[in-house]
Amino acid sequence: MLKVVKKPKRTSFRLRDREIFPNTILSPMDGVTDAPFRRLCRVLSGNRMGLLVSEFVPTDGDAVFRLDGHKQLKFFPEERPFGIQIFGRFPDKMAEAARKIALELHPEFIEVNAGCPAPKVAGKGSGSGLLRDLPRLQEILHEVRTALDRSCPEMPLTLKCRIGWDSESINVMETLKIAEGEGVELLTVHGRTRLQGYNGLADWDWIGKVAAEAKIPVIGNGDVNSVETAFDRIENYGVSGVSIGRGAMHNPWLFGQIADAWEGLAPKEISAVDALDVFPLYYKFKLEDGSTELGALGRLKQLAARLCKGFCLDDADDAAMPVRQTLLTAQEPAEFFDRLHALREGLARDMRYDPSRLVNLNGAKETELRFGDQFAGR
Ligand SMILES: Cc1cc2nc3c(=O)[nH]c(=O)nc-3n(C[C@H](O)[C@H](O)[C@H](O)COP(=O)(O)O)c2cc1C
Repeated sequence: MLKVVKKPKRTSFRLRDREIFPNTILSPMDGVTDAPFRRLCRVLSGNRMGLLVSEFVPTDGDAVFRLDGHKQLKFFPEERPFGIQIFGRFPDKMAEAARKIALELHPEFIEVNAGCPAPKVAGKGSGSGLLRDLPRLQEILHEVRTALDRSCPEMPLTLKCRIGWDSESINVMETLKIAEGEGVELLTVHGRTRLQGYNGLADWDWIGKVAAEAKIPVIGNGDVNSVETAFDRIENYGVSGVSIGRGAMHNPWLFGQIADAWEGLAPKEISAVDALDVFPLYYKFKLEDGSTELGALGRLKQLAARLCKGFCLDDADDAAMPVRQTLLTAQEPAEFFDRLHALREGLARDMRYDPSRLVNLNGAKETELRFGDQFAGR
């Protein structure tokens, strides 16, 4: 039985003149949070998610930025309020991309990425590479804001960053000052350094320091995987809201559960059978988005690999394994759905779905512990 969690003082925030409730954002995840996944989360939340953001869109490669060259730019009307995230290292190219996106696609905000740790991005000086070159980050923000002011002044600019390049060079307070000085209206801080990648835990003390200093809303990001963690982070670290990435792959209902809690309701309990019922919907969204059947099957398996880790039986530690194996070895969609049906009518009937048992959100390295263990000793 899920607990009714006390409502934090803050359950919404403002992005310019728009009230955002609840104060949750689905973190952009390249290769995961495409339009079908975002729609899935929105539907499962009962349309109660704060903001959605696109996967990051590259701007360096094109001689002239073309809107038709990037599938990440596609979004559906029901995804609003929606932001488009761009990355690159050339201020003029970033500004031109922002201008075109704002004028033609009319998202609710444009976001600059200063967080991606991938060598092919950060190593070339964009993404978290910008944290080693703050003057360049400043120039990018300046040029993007100027381009927006000329073409689309009503468009808010937001920034997503990490706390620094490595533990010796944490500079998130400088990043905040630069962002505020250049007209950024919301800052999302992922509490890891670039060197950490996705390892270790996010440093929420740094996120809290930024939130305490900031004049703009600060969204905290890193390891939020339950209603309780969301509550703790908002209440105890002073952030305006939380951004949730990998936790949503394990539990795409999380946004709805948080909204339930904020509305004073007991978060909706999901059964193992409910959890399996999500796959046909996701498949439908993938096909509506133009995916091939085999492409969609790949994404069904990606979701199954994460989501089914929350399946459990009271007396067995590794009960999730056979469910995952059954789904992950299907060779085609029809086989996947036949197996899903058999699980739904058989094994899954005796199982519970409890994603809060997962602590390490990284795919291959997950260990299963009870909620709370990861914060022991804090
Ligand atoms: C597969 C994957 C792809 C990601 N792609 C992006 C991206 O395109 N833009 C971005 O700002 N962050 C990206 N991130 C980082 C997440 O948005 C988020 O900051 C990070 O996963 C930490 O949050 P979490 O602990 O809730 O997962 C990605 C993360 C993962 C795991």
